[in-house]
Amino acid sequence: MTYSLKSIGKVSVSEEKTTIQITEKYRKAMLHLDEFSHLIVLWWIEGRDTEEGREILLVTPPKQENAPLTGVFSCRSPNRPNPIGLTIVRVIEVNEEKGTIEIEKIDAYDQTPIIDIKPYLPKSDCIINAKIPEWFESLAKPKEELDN
Ligand SMILES: C[S@@+](CC[C@H](N)C(=O)[O-])C[C@H]1O[C@@H](n2cnc3c(N)ncnc32)[C@H](O)[C@@H]1O
Repeated sequence: MTYSLKSIGKVSVSEEKTTIQITEKYRKAMLHLDEFSHLIVLWWIEGRDTEEGREILLVTPPKQENAPLTGVFSCRSPNRPNPIGLTIVRVIEVNEEKGTIEIEKIDAYDQTPIIDIKPYLPKSDCIINAKIPEWFESLAKPKEELDN
């Protein structure tokens, strides 16, 4: 089965700031977005949207010592049947009129299409004591720790 997605905006990365630019048509959907500190951003990993990339089901996750051959559903590989990226971002400023959401950072390149945005809800989205494999530990550290 094939489904269709609409791009709702684009990532804009400059030296000064990182912004999500929402397409004019979808700006009404930003109502109350400025009341959240963090958002879940879903984006299209456009550069991996190739027939070959979408056929890759097994990878060895980079940047992690001793990572075994792993199914793409068990890691964050950009190669996957549907190249959807998910990032939790910290909001700096929302301007509904201009359709901009300035954020701290995102691991998507400049001009990456955005396919959805949802509020981050700590009570349901933050699972304490979630179990992960040992080889994933280096990526499991809090973001602040990884940045230092
Ligand atoms: C490993 S993926 C993880 C994405 C997301 N955080 C997730 O967990 O779904 C992130 C990497 O994708 C690559 N990337 C970012 N934007 C991209 C784009 N538009 N096309 C292809 N690759 C991209 C960058 O190398 C980035 O470090």
